[in-house]
Amino acid sequence: MKIEERTVAEYHGRPVKIFDLENEHGLKARLMNYGATLVSLLVPDRAGHLEDITLGYDSFEGYLGNNPYFGATVGRFANRIGGARFVLGGREYLLARNEGPNHLHGGLKGFDKVMWEAGPVSDSHSVGVRFSYLSPDGEEGYPGNLDCQVTYLLNENDELHLAYLATTDRPTHVNLTHHSYFNLAGSRKENILEHELQIIASRFTPADEHLIPTGEIKEVAGTPLDFLKPQAIGRRLGELAAGYDHNFVLDSQGGLALAARVVEPESGRVMELYTTEPGLQFYSGNFLDGTIRGKGGRPYGRHSGFCLEPQHFPDSPNKPQFPTTVLKAGEIFKSLTVFKFLVV
Ligand code: GLA
Repeated sequence: MKIEERTVAEYHGRPVKIFDLENEHGLKARLMNYGATLVSLLVPDRAGHLEDITLGYDSFEGYLGNNPYFGATVGRFANRIGGARFVLGGREYLLARNEGPNHLHGGLKGFDKVMWEAGPVSDSHSVGVRFSYLSPDGEEGYPGNLDCQVTYLLNENDELHLAYLATTDRPTHVNLTHHSYFNLAGSRKENILEHELQIIASRFTPADEHLIPTGEIKEVAGTPLDFLKPQAIGRRLGELAAGYDHNFVLDSQGGLALAARVVEPESGRVMELYTTEPGLQFYSGNFLDGTIRGKGGRPYGRHSGFCLEPQHFPDSPNKPQFPTTVLKAGEIFKSLTVFKFLVV
């Protein structure tokens, strides 16, 4: 197991650091303190050929431009809060409006756009990086000083663990997620439509045209959202006006459990996702339109990557029937997500 650290740029007077992790099978994960970002992830195919399976940029500067959260840590609140407001403890809090009238992915300057403190960590069978960030009271409209930690660990079982911790000094809302765009075919395929996806969720949260949940919970059976049995992402995508961008209610609520499994038939690469979170946003890269040129100058067109974002349900602060996202002083928010790689 190896870890290497270097400084690649300066941002607001602070060093932009890159950490390269590698395990004995050659899996390589590159992390960056700006946005506590996963910059790249090299994984072998069935012939042992390593390729980067995530979308992103070749240089730090790319991440400062038009960046739809490539590989980022998203917070304080991943996904949307309707009307960019909530009431907590009898007081109304107004948040940044950065998607029409709504709040998306933590606001104008969410956790994906801040510099995190970073340092290497390791134990007998893994190497990694611990990122920490103190989000001040009032940031993007949220109450409470929120102390956050995200630890990425790569181990010898070809797993990348993402462990989240947060504490606050006043009641607030927290919903942290990871926002990598994957294409398990690497550069072999321009889109992810042939990837076979399984999501262990019998239900989802229907949403309005702005992707704000209506508050209902419905069965996936008989809809294009039924991924209980593996199916190609592209098979029924055409039945949805805008593609997939839905929050699934995972069958397992509480405890680390398999949430999704993705197989890329040509390369044989398989990614399993385990999480303790109750929801999973599946986004099929609908807003990518070819204007972004990413790694190797490659244009990222529609559906060139997919995201599986373990999280609490969107708009939970305004939906008391959803699992709560309230964090109070003295409590510890904890969450774990594991990406595991294998081949078939
Ligand atoms: C999430 C959202 C999408 C989109 C992307 C970023 O996946 O659900 O609607 O905002 O992030 O472009």
